[in-house]
Amino acid sequence: MRQNSDYDTIQLNPLKPTIKMQTLKVELANRSYPIHIGRNLIADASLILPHLKRKHVAIVTNTTVAPLYLAKLTQTLEAADVRVIPIILPDGEAYKNTETLNSIYDVLLQNRCERSTTLIALGGGVIGDLTGYAAATYLRGVPFIQIPTTLLSQVDSSVGGKTGINHPLGKNMIGAFYQPQLVLADIDTLQTLPAREFSAGVAEVIKYGLIRDADFFDWLEVNMAKLMQLDEQVLSAAIYRSCLSKADVVAKDEHEQGERALLNLGHTFGHAIENAMGYGVWLHGEAVAAGTMMAADLSQRMAWLSAADVARIKNSFIAANLPINPPKLGATKYLDLMGLDKKVENGKIRLVLQQGIGKAVITSDYDTEKLTATLSLC
Ligand code: NAD
Ligand code: GLY
Repeated sequence: MRQNSDYDTIQLNPLKPTIKMQTLKVELANRSYPIHIGRNLIADASLILPHLKRKHVAIVTNTTVAPLYLAKLTQTLEAADVRVIPIILPDGEAYKNTETLNSIYDVLLQNRCERSTTLIALGGGVIGDLTGYAAATYLRGVPFIQIPTTLLSQVDSSVGGKTGINHPLGKNMIGAFYQPQLVLADIDTLQTLPAREFSAGVAEVIKYGLIRDADFFDWLEVNMAKLMQLDEQVLSAAIYRSCLSKADVVAKDEHEQGERALLNLGHTFGHAIENAMGYGVWLHGEAVAAGTMMAADLSQRMAWLSAADVARIKNSFIAANLPINPPKLGATKYLDLMGLDKKVENGKIRLVLQQGIGKAVITSDYDTEKLTATLSLC
């Protein structure tokens, strides 16, 4: 195992019982915002109040998360004299669409919400993406806050301002870059998360190690069992390190002109899986895990990644109870679906591939026959 100052930070900077939370910042000049990570944060109004223009919020959540955390968050805010409008949506990726988006606008308009009303997303990535897009577009833009309650949303979707909805012809095809005022990652909410959803979030955690943080990948290999048991120290360290990576990438390339596309490792393959199987059948993180294995297979065929490294990647997904074998759709179907992805430029699919663990590259400079060979296995 490597030892360096970054790695020490992981070991020495997990959440200690005496430390309530850790904070890092997404640096985007006058649109910078904090990410707080810690326990029982939704009970602390003082973290939210400084980010409200007016004591008026609409909390957008769903039928699963509302019974768990809506009352608590509402009490926290109402005790601080904040007026709360709840918006409870149906649960599921299948509802990340224009109809649901319109139902958010309906409630905001019926309640005469103004530009100074803050939307709060309380839920996983589906709620975060929908609420963020509603905030970006309602009255041409109102402030919003992310309170992510899944591991995936705490380490990925709540950070960086990608918001949007699905179109029948493709995932996340309609959307906007629109940054939140604040991200509040309350790790206590993960206690109620189904194990399968937790695993899906671990796929995105592993992703950061694979893309740009080999030390983190080493650390994850050692600590995966504890992470899967929701060990508080390991969990908070993993979320912190993931957010640090994402915040750094977003600060450098907010609108995905370059480096940010690395975060799509496994996603072009994964989006094809999600689309083919029907949104919600494979969880996003599961599709990313299998998609990352496809990227690893092609990288190995290109002689960029060793068999030993492919095995390490595979074992990390297995340890996180994630699928490693993509569904058998056939190369033609995969190519067709991958062609729908946003990462297509001038008809050529740009892929994120690996030139080692911790070193991902964005490239269209791969052998198309080797890509077909990878896809033919599936
Ligand atoms: P999700 O939002 O569907 O949540 C997963 C399930 O867990 C849902 O049933 C939800 O109701 C439930 N849930 C949420 N919090 C819970 C809790 N604390 N306890 C119990 N149940 C809880 O899925 P997700 O994995 O969070 O997010 C996936 C979505 O995020 C996809 O739509 C994907 O496209 C999007 N995404 C966006 C970005 C981005 O940068 N904006 C990045 C990655 C993924
Ligand atoms: N999840 C990829 C990104 O935010 O860019």
